[in-house]
Amino acid sequence: MRGRGVRRLAWWLVFLAGLAPLLWLAWALPTNRLGFEPVVDSLRFLGQTAIWLLMIGLAITPVGRLLPSLRLVDYRRMVGLYAFFYASLHVAVWLVIDRQLDWRAIVEEIAERLHIGFGALAFLLLVPLAVTSTKGWMRRLGSGWRELHRLVYPATGLAVLHYFLSVKLDTRTPLLLMGLLVVLLAARPLTWRWTSARRRR
Ligand code: HEM
Repeated sequence: MRGRGVRRLAWWLVFLAGLAPLLWLAWALPTNRLGFEPVVDSLRFLGQTAIWLLMIGLAITPVGRLLPSLRLVDYRRMVGLYAFFYASLHVAVWLVIDRQLDWRAIVEEIAERLHIGFGALAFLLLVPLAVTSTKGWMRRLGSGWRELHRLVYPATGLAVLHYFLSVKLDTRTPLLLMGLLVVLLAARPLTWRWTSARRRR
């Protein structure tokens, strides 16, 4: 009973933590805390929030295997959905405010600018993952669900590439994210072997 109460509290804390960047943005924009270019600044902030949440989501499986008592897997879906939520806001700011829904210009830009093309592809890959994140879709797709959700790796890779090509000068953070993605990819089979060896023991 006590364990369930603690898990409930932890769930609410993670839920509120996911909303924090949005609340911060709503406070920072009118007070010029982000910078003096509200559109570009919010695009950057929302994009960065989305990409870090994708990384945290990817870290949950290997870290959760090493520390099973924390039951981190319980929060994976929420973190993934928050990543999609911030990525959608990022895309919406670009489409509606930056490009004013000028569809001809939007299509041209996606086709002609490599970094925008990578971002669009990353977003397209995230859409089916968000749509099929419910328990109903999990049941319907069976083992195919796991296969489909492996798309999160190419999606995150493309998002990192998009980030790398978007920044003009300081590429340290996207390079750090690239390294982190490689580590997380390698950690998956390693931690899987580690947990199966522990189970055998
Ligand atoms: C249709 C899809 C997308 C479009 C059109 C788009 C558009 C843009 C644009 C125009 C910028 C440059 C802002 C600037 O002038 O500095 C940007 C930067 C960025 N985007 Fe996207 N994006 C898309 C998808 C994504 C996705 C799916 C993610 C992450 C999951 C993402 C993360 C980022 C990040 C981290 C930056 C760099 C922020 C910085 O400069 O610090 N984008 N995006």
